[in-house]
Amino acid sequence: MRLHFWIILFCTTLLLATGCDKNDGVADQGSSKVDLAQGEKVYGQRCAACHDRGLAGAPQTGNKREWTTAITQGIDVMIEHSLNGYKGQRGLMPARGGHADLSDSDVTAAVHYIVQKSR
Ligand code: HEC
Repeated sequence: MRLHFWIILFCTTLLLATGCDKNDGVADQGSSKVDLAQGEKVYGQRCAACHDRGLAGAPQTGNKREWTTAITQGIDVMIEHSLNGYKGQRGLMPARGGHADLSDSDVTAAVHYIVQKSR
């Protein structure tokens, strides 16, 4: 009877431990592991046309002052605006920069790249 208890306890602990490991892996992928190299590539092909020179009112990448307002509201809002598009005081940011073929992670990586260059 006693032995039984310990075996069950051991198995439960093992199960919990492996379960937690899996969760950690997923969390890493979701939040902290953004591929900045991918972001730079996407940015160069799809976003630079407007954001390199500040065309059509776009905040210019690398210009801290022009990005302060956007960055202050937080990266999640910036990503949401980039995915769905939005109209602000400066002009119109088209959804996914007007490139519907870009995946969510492409756009997310590009936004992280811009922020890294502009803060
Ligand atoms: C056709 C021109 C154009 C292209 C292409 C474009 N943008 Fe923009 N973007 C704008 C303009 C204009 C604004 C400013 C809107 C405002 O604040 O009034 C803007 C704003 C933004 C913002 C700030 C959002 C906020 O919440 O303030 C982000 C982030 C952004 N763009 C990311 C991107 C990314 C990533 C790409 C490429 C996938 C891209 N843009 C391509 C014109 C463009």
